[in-house]
This record gives sequence, structure tokens and C-alpha cells, in this order.
Amino acid sequence: EIHSAGYRAHTNIALIKYWGKRNKELFLPVTSSLSLTLDAFYTDTHVEFDTSLTGDVFYLGGELQNEANTAKVSRFLDLFRETAGKPNLYAKVTSVNHVPTAAGLASSASAFAALAGACNLALDLQLDAQTLSTYARQGSGSASRSLLGGFVEWHKGEGDESASSYAEAFDDADWDLAMVFVIINRNAKKIDSRLGMEHTNQTSPFYALWPQEVEKDLAMIKPAIKAHDLDTVGQIAEHNAMKMHAMTIAAKPSFTYWEPASIEAMTIVRELREQGIPAYITMDAGPNVKVLCRASQAETIKAAFAPRFGADQVVIAKPGPAAHPLEK
Ligand code: DP6
Repeated sequence: EIHSAGYRAHTNIALIKYWGKRNKELFLPVTSSLSLTLDAFYTDTHVEFDTSLTGDVFYLGGELQNEANTAKVSRFLDLFRETAGKPNLYAKVTSVNHVPTAAGLASSASAFAALAGACNLALDLQLDAQTLSTYARQGSGSASRSLLGGFVEWHKGEGDESASSYAEAFDDADWDLAMVFVIINRNAKKIDSRLGMEHTNQTSPFYALWPQEVEKDLAMIKPAIKAHDLDTVGQIAEHNAMKMHAMTIAAKPSFTYWEPASIEAMTIVRELREQGIPAYITMDAGPNVKVLCRASQAETIKAAFAPRFGADQVVIAKPGPAAHPLEK
């Protein structure tokens, strides 16, 4: 007997960042966060729960994955098997990340959101998007937000209550908005977000300020989003990202995700602003620079990067949809 389904989830970029857990087992965050789901990057995942399988099998981009990668998927599948009351029902998972070549943007957010959607459908659990987001969260925190489209808020929730920490659509982002990705190839060794946020939380003296800064930023950005006020949204988002990265520099030992080319890209953004073009920076756990801007000015902004960055290093993304089922 086979129960199968396919699901697509788009990646999201936080404007107000999630950077720290209060409960590592349940992926409960220290703060709420707010993101924009994007159309340009997504993951397609098919799952086949099959009574004849004796273990899980995981293919990513056409390649059979090793034991360590498969174990991460298995732990996540366990959440759904438990809910379905079928602890011994194994699955074949086939996942493909759609990102521009050499982008290095493969994202755990879209991956776990797509897998959560596929499992929900295949096992006919009929969990709604908010509940499903509490499952996706336990694969990767930011995955909770990729089940919804447009602007999405992930509520931090209460205490150790998993069900209270869910993501919710905040605004459809159906206004003149885009995010330009400046893709900076990394050669520096990578500190993934899980490790980076834990190290920051534990050693950065500035971490104590972070929860209250996020509270203030969220309270200010939400009305600005509703008012379609790009300048205010951009200023708050940029400041929030800078505060996150300042905390990493103040960690012990200090670290940063910025590379020289990141700073060059940020300089170009500030020059655009001096020319009166609204463009605002955000950065995550890597050297890529993302620029929040008007969709109608995205090509102009892309062109401004051309002297320094190759055409294939600059990608325009628009607001993206909620995760959804795939045709068979
Ligand atoms: C900087 O969701 O990747 O992108 O929950 O440990 O899997 P885990 O971390 P992850 O962290 C994302 C960090 C960030 C900010 C954000 O997306 O909010």
C-alpha cells in the first residue's frame, strides 16, 4: 500500500530575524519574527509512504543521500507518523531545490515546509497551515514561515507549548515590492545558522538587548507594511539585520557572515539611496546581500550592481505564494 503526495514551498527571507532558541528540542524561538515569502526559489518534494519499505529513503536533486542526511529527514517524518498513529510506516522522499545555478541558496526553510505539506497530504492528516507550521518549525525554525505566502509572522508562543509557536499570513504583499539577491560566492568556512545563533545567544553581551529590539521593530514594521510604506519597512528591516550581525561580531570568539564583496554590495545599495532610489539591505547567515525595493525599480537596481557583479549573480525575486500541492 502506497500513500503519496507532492508539495511545493517557496523560500522566505526574514525582515525581522529569528536569531536564538529558548527550547532547542522543539525549535521554540526567543522572539517572534517576520518574513517575506519569495517566488524565485523553491523546493518540490514528493513523499511516498510505502508499507513494503523497511526504512526511509531520501533523494535530493536526484542523488541518494547518506545516513546522516536521511536521519534528519526520518526524525522529521516521525512527527507525522506519530500523528497518523503509524510509527512503522516508512517513506521514500524525493526533493528538488529550484535555485539559480551556483547561487548557494538551497534553503532548509523551503525544504522542511515542502516536506511537511507533502506528509500532511499523503497521510491525509488534514492539518491547517498554522498547525502544519508548528510541524515545519521542528525541521528548521524558518520553515514555519514558508508554508504561508507574502508577509508572514511567526509568533514566538508561550513557554514550552509547541502549538502556540506558529506562523500566520500577515499581508499578501500584493504591492510594488521586490527583493534583489546579490549572490556572493563563499570561500570562507561556513557557520550554519543553528550554530551561529546558539553561539551568539551564549556569548554575545549584546544578546540581552535583542528581544526588546525585536519587539520594538515588530511593533513598528507591522503598521508600515499595512500602509505599503516601503521606506519605513526598509529602514526597520535594515536596522534589524544590522543589529543581528553586530551581535555576531561581539560574540566570543567573534565571527561574521560578511565578506569583502558583501560590503561592496552594501555600498552600492547606499549609493542608490543617495540617488533617491529606495533600496534597503538585509543579510542572513551567509555573505549574500538582499535588497528590498520596488518591483518597478528592480531592473534599475540590478543594473547598478552590473559593474561589480556578474549578471548571473544578481537575481530579482517577487513576493511568493503559500506552499501548495503539486500535480502528480
Ligand atoms: C538568519 O531556521 O535556518 O535566516 O531553526 O536552527 O534550523 P534552525 O535555523 P534557521 O535560522 C534562520 C536564521 C536567519 C533568520 C531568519 O530566517 O529569521
